[in-house]
Amino acid sequence: MATLVIVGAQWGDEAKGKIVDVLGDQATFVVRYSGGNNAGHTVITGGQTYKFHLLPAGILHPNAVSILAGGMAVCPKSLLEELDRTRAQKPELGELRVSPAAHVVFPYHRELDRLEEAARGDNKIGTTSRGIGPMYTDKVQRIGIRMGEFVDAKKFPVRLREVLEFKNRLMQLLGGEPIAYEPLLEEYTAYADRIRPYVMDTEAILQEAVRRGERVLFEGAQGTFLDLDHGTYPYVTSSHPTAGGACLGTGIGPRDIHNALGVCKAYTTRVGEGPFPTELDNEIGQQIRDQGHEYGTTTGRPRRCGWLDLVALKHSCRLNSLSGLIITRLDVLSGVGDLEVCTAYHAHGGPLGHLPYSIEEWEGVEAQTQTLKGWSEDIQGARSWDDLPKATQDYVRFIEEFTGTPAAILSIGPDRDETIILRPDLVWGS
Ligand code: GDP
Ligand code: IMO
Ligand code: MG
Repeated sequence: MATLVIVGAQWGDEAKGKIVDVLGDQATFVVRYSGGNNAGHTVITGGQTYKFHLLPAGILHPNAVSILAGGMAVCPKSLLEELDRTRAQKPELGELRVSPAAHVVFPYHRELDRLEEAARGDNKIGTTSRGIGPMYTDKVQRIGIRMGEFVDAKKFPVRLREVLEFKNRLMQLLGGEPIAYEPLLEEYTAYADRIRPYVMDTEAILQEAVRRGERVLFEGAQGTFLDLDHGTYPYVTSSHPTAGGACLGTGIGPRDIHNALGVCKAYTTRVGEGPFPTELDNEIGQQIRDQGHEYGTTTGRPRRCGWLDLVALKHSCRLNSLSGLIITRLDVLSGVGDLEVCTAYHAHGGPLGHLPYSIEEWEGVEAQTQTLKGWSEDIQGARSWDDLPKATQDYVRFIEEFTGTPAAILSIGPDRDETIILRPDLVWGS
């Protein structure tokens, strides 16, 4: 197995960044395939904390080439700031390539994100305000500016003028201020000059790498239930975080994706609005938030916390055709007491046999839970299955049995070393 997708199996922030960092030194390419700087991936290693929003976490491995693929939304300013910041922390980084098909995020996208959220009032989505939704709207509307055009000194001024004129009218309609063309062009031309050397045909590079049998790691962003098609619509992001998005976003065909592992927390969190049947709006929820420092990497917002939702997770295993689970943050549950896990949804007085399709259907959903024994031991020092308390082992086994998906890796702390690889055969193959 040479190509592996690491996908968020819940609502994001499952610790994909940490896992990609752990596995990245075995990869030749590490590829972000969707989303933009709405993502926040934290990696802790060697006493340093790295925060990634656009760069793949694999960039910390000098031998792996990092790719921002065509499915992405790339804010040039944010990308350059992140490159400079990461280089200052660690001068030896992997090489970077950016697809000419990736779409570019401009200040008018951020402004429209803000204006649209304000216009939604009580129905706001709770976006990260990074302009991601408005940028993907441009993509679908077929007026977006792609990286290839952005770094073309002849084309960019023409495209920017034409799109900005339209966007300015839209922003004014929503009560915003127009953005002036000349200063925007000047600022973004300077970014384009710096980004140009990184832009090359990543589709061909990746297809060639797959043909040669090299190890390609696809780094998911966001999570399965934030997927535009498969998430809790409309409380979703505007891209395709699910494993299938790795094909769409990179130009690799389905038969060349050899493996997909889903990262899930040992409980559930969600940032922003939307359905969350196992949410704990109480002291236990607060305890998990405190013990897990559950505050967003991108926006600093407190994350909503709740019990592990196995109904959703099982659905996620199917949606992403997962061959294994990576269960993270097991250490956070130490001392929480007995643990509940959701094993069925009930709605309108009866069991619900499927995941709801609409917000109206979600509204009546109640999580039916089962209680499992908790543990109080500090498990951060565990380095093997046998080091774990029996209750932790039973918790993991229960997840595996319910979802029908084996646990490949366990994470028991944020550091690269705080990882237990249970099934190396499920990662790259034996
Ligand atoms: P991502 O968006 O999926 O990459 O996840 P984030 O980086 O946004 O959030 C995960 C957070 O959990 C980060 O702060 C990580 O440093 C931290 N983390 C990762 N794995 C573990 C773990 O096993 N235990 C604990 N306590 N923290 C973890
Ligand atoms: P990572 O990669 C958690 C959520 C936002 C909001 C919704 C739409 O770190 O797991 P957007 O700005 O994308 O239009 O917001 O999606 N969201 C995330 N939640 N982790 C993320 O990324 C997220 N990216 C977007 O909070 O509810
Ligand atoms: Mg995150």
